[in-house]
Amino acid sequence: MTTAEVYAEFGRREARGVSPTYERLSHAVADDDALLALLDALPPAKRQPNLLFSVVRWLGGPVDDRAAFHDFTVTHWPAVKAELLTRATQTNESGRCAVLLPVLAALPQPLALLEVGASAGLCLYPDRYAYRYGKHQVGSGEPVLECAASGLVPPTRVPQVVWRAGLDLNPLDGTDPGDVSWLDALIWPEHAHRRARLRAAAAVAAADPPLLVRGDLVDDLPALAARAPADATLVVFHTSVLYQVPPPRREEFVRLVRELPGHWIANEAPEVLRHDGLPDPPDDAMHNVLALDGRPLAWARGHGQAMTWFG
Ligand SMILES: C[S@@+](CC[C@H](N)C(=O)[O-])C[C@H]1O[C@@H](n2cnc3c(N)ncnc32)[C@H](O)[C@@H]1O
Repeated sequence: MTTAEVYAEFGRREARGVSPTYERLSHAVADDDALLALLDALPPAKRQPNLLFSVVRWLGGPVDDRAAFHDFTVTHWPAVKAELLTRATQTNESGRCAVLLPVLAALPQPLALLEVGASAGLCLYPDRYAYRYGKHQVGSGEPVLECAASGLVPPTRVPQVVWRAGLDLNPLDGTDPGDVSWLDALIWPEHAHRRARLRAAAAVAAADPPLLVRGDLVDDLPALAARAPADATLVVFHTSVLYQVPPPRREEFVRLVRELPGHWIANEAPEVLRHDGLPDPPDDAMHNVLALDGRPLAWARGHGQAMTWFG
């Protein structure tokens, strides 16, 4: 896809109905030859809409007016470019635990959780959050994660977690103001509820910090998995991570994770992690596929706000 197509697709499939600001802005960038030329001089992974919008916001730029966004980005291009080249989208969305919960709760307990691509590790606390699937509430505490679920009997309990560890190329620290301000900038402009839950989930993590290891999901997974307690079910999981991993390394990761004991949960876009025999998605919006040990179970919206179970 061209960069213009990437921005138009982001507006149509990711931002539409979720962030009117980013929907408008992504279509504006798709039509902006000057910005497209600047972006096209960067490596493809650094042209991503969410990364550009987050960097501009992090630098104090405007995103609600296309002309103001253009002027700020062009005028401050050296600074914008430097941040694009050094930063990555590390959005840590605890809301995705609402998608993982039905699978986690059904596995043999207790669990040893190992998340690859963990960012600040906020998805490592599925047992500490509360959930609302329509009228059905599970768990207690904050944040309360809302998920519009269909085709699913919601779980009646949260899992029992005895060990939690995360692996990331660049682990973030939910107690560090600089890291939290970047995580905040990654949240889409209108999403006050996601900002509130970032803070609530970061407080949960700060009270009982996870083991977060700097490393690669292929090279460093076996050593970290070997540290899990043997008397718990090891669950290796990842949500919205593999799109950042080159395809040959994705394949190596899948081979490796299948050889480990325990279970593997993936929540990734179907273009990124392919599955045979998927039913049609519920609509044209971008969905991840939730899968257990390679078996697809559900379509899930990107921030965990909805899931359509078919498994
Ligand atoms: C979009 S974030 C998702 C974070 C978290 N899984 C969530 O759903 O909230 C993707 C994370 O994967 C990490 N990542 C990308 N490639 C990786 C690799 N090869 N090994 C380990 N982590 C990686 C990034 O640093 C980033 O923190």
